[in-house]
Amino acid sequence: TKDWNGIDQVVLRNPQGATAKVCLQGGQVASWRNEKGEELLFTSSKAIFKPPKAIRGGIPICFPQFGNCGSLEQHGFARNRLWVIDDNPPPLHPNDSNGKSFVDLLLKPSEEDLKCWPHSFELRLRVSLSADGDLTLISRVRNINGKPFSFSFAYHTYLSVSDISEVRIEGLETLDYLDNLCQRERFTEQGDALTFESEVDRVYLRCPSVIAVLDHERKRTFVLKKEGLSDVVVWNPWEKKSKSMVDFGDEEYKQMLCVDAAAVEKPITLKPGEEWTGRLQLLVVPSSFCSEQ
Ligand code: BG6
Repeated sequence: TKDWNGIDQVVLRNPQGATAKVCLQGGQVASWRNEKGEELLFTSSKAIFKPPKAIRGGIPICFPQFGNCGSLEQHGFARNRLWVIDDNPPPLHPNDSNGKSFVDLLLKPSEEDLKCWPHSFELRLRVSLSADGDLTLISRVRNINGKPFSFSFAYHTYLSVSDISEVRIEGLETLDYLDNLCQRERFTEQGDALTFESEVDRVYLRCPSVIAVLDHERKRTFVLKKEGLSDVVVWNPWEKKSKSMVDFGDEEYKQMLCVDAAAVEKPITLKPGEEWTGRLQLLVVPSSFCSEQ
């Protein structure tokens, strides 16, 4: 179908009525709704639907570079390219498709891409929606080049939250992080769950495979389970930065939080013929922590 102002999308649906929408533009997940029809991902009301620019919201894919540390455009080119549906992907584990509604997408570099990043690759993305409404993204990068190459990667996940001041993240306590607001200086997080009262732009290093984002007001928790991606990026632009972004509302920072499963600190290196897999499973569970407040 076409949505998001005429951009081609694939809609996944489970028997309970949960849905996910995946755009061929950017291989970007545009929407993820539970069986009640509630949207779980944030998309800005100011988002600009003009390919090739990535849309502000959903889950853009950052590849082969994260951020602006490198020679490529910010967050790499994958999010700005038109992907194709992969009708015959190499097999995945049967658990990755059993009882799920899914779509497989593929991105190969264009001539232009090879000029700025001279490495032949195939990037496959499977997006699946389970009978429980969980959303899973599985990315596979294959080196079809004669030489090794390295890349960074992130699922730039814009979670929809009730009010950023009511949200906390569990799972990042006591970890080291690189602070993008301080020239990527390295700090160590304290022992408490992470809460928000100003701009945050950090790469948490060597994170556990499960992270929880608790939304006090909505009494629900996003659980992020990741594999093959050791870092977690946490980003909220807060007031001042929001005002400087043309495709983001001045007050919208209150309703979103980016929590990205990522490989940033240590890029992934693939020898010719090798393949890497990075998985992210997102689920929502009712929160019990409201009783503590
Ligand atoms: C975050 C980065 O992941 O993405 C931030 O850590 C950046 O530094 C943000 O501002 C948004 O990036 P973009 O390119 O989508 O505006």
